[in-house]
Amino acid sequence: MPKVLSSVIALSSFATFGIGVFQKPSNPVAPTFADDVAPILYKRCASCHSDSRIAPFSLVGYENAKKRALTIVGVTETNLMPPWKAKANYGEFRDVAALTEAEKKILKRWAETGAKEGDPAKTPKPPTVVPGWRLGKPAYILAPSKETPIPAEGRDFFRDYLIDPQVTKPTWIRAIDFLPKEQGTVHHIIPSLIKKEEAEKLRKIKFDFADESWKPESIQSVETYNVLGFWSTGAPPFESPEGTAFLVNPGDCFLLDVHYKPKGKPTTEQPKVALYTQESAPKDEMSVKVVASGNIYIQPGEKNVRFYAIGPETEHDTTIYAVWPHMHYLGKTFKAWVKFPGGFSKPLVAIDSWDPDWQLLYYLRDPMRVPKGSKIYVTGTYDNTEDNPRNPNSPPSVVEAGESSRDEMLFFELFQVEHKPKAKPVEEKKSPKN
Ligand code: HEC
Repeated sequence: MPKVLSSVIALSSFATFGIGVFQKPSNPVAPTFADDVAPILYKRCASCHSDSRIAPFSLVGYENAKKRALTIVGVTETNLMPPWKAKANYGEFRDVAALTEAEKKILKRWAETGAKEGDPAKTPKPPTVVPGWRLGKPAYILAPSKETPIPAEGRDFFRDYLIDPQVTKPTWIRAIDFLPKEQGTVHHIIPSLIKKEEAEKLRKIKFDFADESWKPESIQSVETYNVLGFWSTGAPPFESPEGTAFLVNPGDCFLLDVHYKPKGKPTTEQPKVALYTQESAPKDEMSVKVVASGNIYIQPGEKNVRFYAIGPETEHDTTIYAVWPHMHYLGKTFKAWVKFPGGFSKPLVAIDSWDPDWQLLYYLRDPMRVPKGSKIYVTGTYDNTEDNPRNPNSPPSVVEAGESSRDEMLFFELFQVEHKPKAKPVEEKKSPKN
């Protein structure tokens, strides 16, 4: 995020001179670290901003927070942190990581009133990390076969690992969780479920690295979707909603796309994946539906070019549980909504400042029942100029649709249940509620 970074740095260097020149806030009460600020930072930031975690510095303890008081205001006012990209008031979600306006105001007033400590005895205890699996003992633990060396310094890098859970019969997966060896160098993991035939194609490609992994570019010819969520430190495990589960058949594999971040000392990683299964078939099979556009062509110099993808009419009544927006490095904004057969629309998700580092899975607060004949609309805008700090081409060149990170995508996944008519007719008293 170099572009935004520079504005944040400007803001924090201003802090050195700035504190004294702020006007007195209208509310004379000055929040303190102990009473007001630590509870926010410990709840919303510490999962990443504590020692040995993925963020570049700790925000645990008064001294750590005080020296960054104004930077914190900068990143929270601009919604850069905590990483939660869904626009407020467009769709409603569970486990919202974003700060509330009230929390942002407290952080701002604290910085403006001299970042006071208050009574240290009242500071809450920093959250402790519970070691091990959050959902208890998994049925399967998968890991790359070898450790991957992470250098002390240098650029972030990606590795892709194919892992076969070796299920011997069709298996229902109700939850997936992730556990890196250490929490400091795995920025995030994007897991995909790979059907047997695709996994076989992948096995024919030579590994790029001795740890038996590929660069994402090497495997772009393979259909890697369905993506099953996004894991980063602090993100909840992937849990299929009550009464639903994913089906994994013998031969199906998981592909882990891992983003590593060197963190000051050489180390090795071998992230693990836990699968939680259930014996009986769920009431409904969870499936992933994709709405995407292959018609992307962006001339160099285009700053705000827009594409659309429109899904086909849904064949059955469908319940949508979660959504996953995806674009690459030229992506700027993203929006998706449902158009009902009656003509009116409901928002699903919008992102005003797309960030490929934080491709979160958004669980709808209330599952959305969508009648047969509805359509999903997706649109995104792209910036293919030098001004886009993430542009992979310098100078910018023509970019088309494709799966390599130098190509672009307008891609949207819906985690959903299709209510296909049951084989035997059932008597219905009422039509289903929408
Ligand atoms: C899910 C992990 C995570 C959470 C939660 C999180 N951060 Fe961060 N933060 C990061 C990472 C990683 C970076 C480094 C830049 C990046 O990768 O986006 C960062 C960078 C920052 C920076 C430096 C930004 C810059 O541009 O240099 C600040 C300041 C910051 N975070 C403050 C916060 C605050 C305040 C909160 C809570 C309100 C918070 N963060 C929550 C992971 C997190």
